[in-house]
Amino acid sequence: MAAVEQAEFSAELTLADEAATTVLAGAIKPVLRAGDVLLLAGPVGAGKSFFARALISALLADHGLAEDIPSPTFTLVQTYRAGDLEIWHSDLYRLTSVDEVAELGLLDAFATALCLVEWPDRLREELPTDALTLAFELGKTPGERQVVISSPNRRWLPLIDRLKEQSA
Ligand SMILES: Nc1ncnc2c1ncn2[C@@H]1O[C@H](COP(=O)(O)OP(=O)(O)OP(=O)(O)O)[C@@H](O)[C@H]1O
Ligand SMILES: [Mg+2]
Repeated sequence: MAAVEQAEFSAELTLADEAATTVLAGAIKPVLRAGDVLLLAGPVGAGKSFFARALISALLADHGLAEDIPSPTFTLVQTYRAGDLEIWHSDLYRLTSVDEVAELGLLDAFATALCLVEWPDRLREELPTDALTLAFELGKTPGERQVVISSPNRRWLPLIDRLKEQSA
């Protein structure tokens, strides 16, 4: 069978400050549903957890909920529920083996929950292929970040186009 060319849809945004990252989380929130996986990539301090917290707080706030959103650095996973939506926030930095991903229940959660995954490179062969990737980078000033939002999956194309228009 001939190889299928997979297009990659992407938008590159500058996040001038933390508020801009919170606005981005708010812009992505309405399209999210169970079975979506957001891969949050980028170096230490790039803003992966900041984005995850902003998104989770906004999803919880829609249901009148306000909870602490602790870092999953040591537990690897923290879960939340916003109405019918289960949310898994994971930080795989300290993952010792890729087998642990299934043991944590994360592979099942990819299909049934909204999953936010920091340090997704740790997933190796378990990396979901149709996820939305947000690759954060430090910017030119202490408060600035760059983010490239991309996916090979058409599902994310309208969102990516909208984010591009908003940043133009
Ligand atoms: N525009 C911005 N967007 C997000 N965070 C920002 C921004 N400007 C400054 N910050 C700060 O940068 C820090 C980002 O830390 P955060 O814990 O989110 O990084 P991380 O990518 O999750 O790192 P780690 O790999 O250690 O988990 C926070 O202290 C946050 O307040
Ligand atoms: Mg983090």
